[in-house]
Amino acid sequence: MTDFDKSFAPIGVFDSGVGGLTVLKAIREALPRENIIYLGDTARLPYGTKSPTSIARYATQATAKLLEYDIKMLVVACNTASAVALGTLHAQMAPVPVIGVVEPGALAAVAARPGGSHLVLATEATVRLGAYGKAISSRDPEARVRELSCELLVALAEEGWTRGDIADSIVRRYLDEAEEDAFKPDSIILGCTHFPLLREVIKTAVGDDVEVVDSAGTTAAFVRQTLEIKNGLALGSESGSLQLLATDGITRFARVGGQFLGAPLTAEDIHLVDL
Ligand code: DGL
Repeated sequence: MTDFDKSFAPIGVFDSGVGGLTVLKAIREALPRENIIYLGDTARLPYGTKSPTSIARYATQATAKLLEYDIKMLVVACNTASAVALGTLHAQMAPVPVIGVVEPGALAAVAARPGGSHLVLATEATVRLGAYGKAISSRDPEARVRELSCELLVALAEEGWTRGDIADSIVRRYLDEAEEDAFKPDSIILGCTHFPLLREVIKTAVGDDVEVVDSAGTTAAFVRQTLEIKNGLALGSESGSLQLLATDGITRFARVGGQFLGAPLTAEDIHLVDL
């Protein structure tokens, strides 16, 4: 099948849970005609505290499920899976293009603050691999990078506690840790799908001089650019469809996912799948 033949096919978007809906939202805004299938591996969330071997296995299985839908592109909307398994997923999907969220996030930060100091907030697994540090240094050798694992912020976002005293003090606690060795960031990178929900709290804590960036918008731009190059953009004037798949807990997916998507969801909107 040629790239042209695939323009009608859906884009597959995968995350460990509902957090990737922030990326999905940006893709739908940028490319409203595209059909999209989103898979949240809610049965095995969180990925961020698991070993690279397990994360790679989960990501491979999720990708195999999306391949059943004849997707024309895979977007790995999970930072942890992007950090750990992008190379493996490229091999699994070839020649279908695969886009992760780490490179776009790094690009957004470097563009916002060239030669600057970047503080990356991410999961344990993403930090352990230094994924953002490598992506930033390869684009901007002058940049300084500090990566900080903030697992509690995932739980806060999942719980919907994204404002108020508890969110403020937990965010402050993490930022204090980053500042211990006098590292003064010019940018904060939200290197986890869940953290855009805490953007306001983080922005308030760091002040206006520090840029707060995430991957969603830049990833959507990468998706558009890649489809344009391959002549794979959806044609026609109708809005694209959205199919939501989850591996467990569709009621919770609907409740929490609605906050990430910025639109209400019901359990009937989500289909349970087994990997
Ligand atoms: N989706 C993950 C990420 O962006 C966060 C949640 C998890 O640990 O699975 O890194």
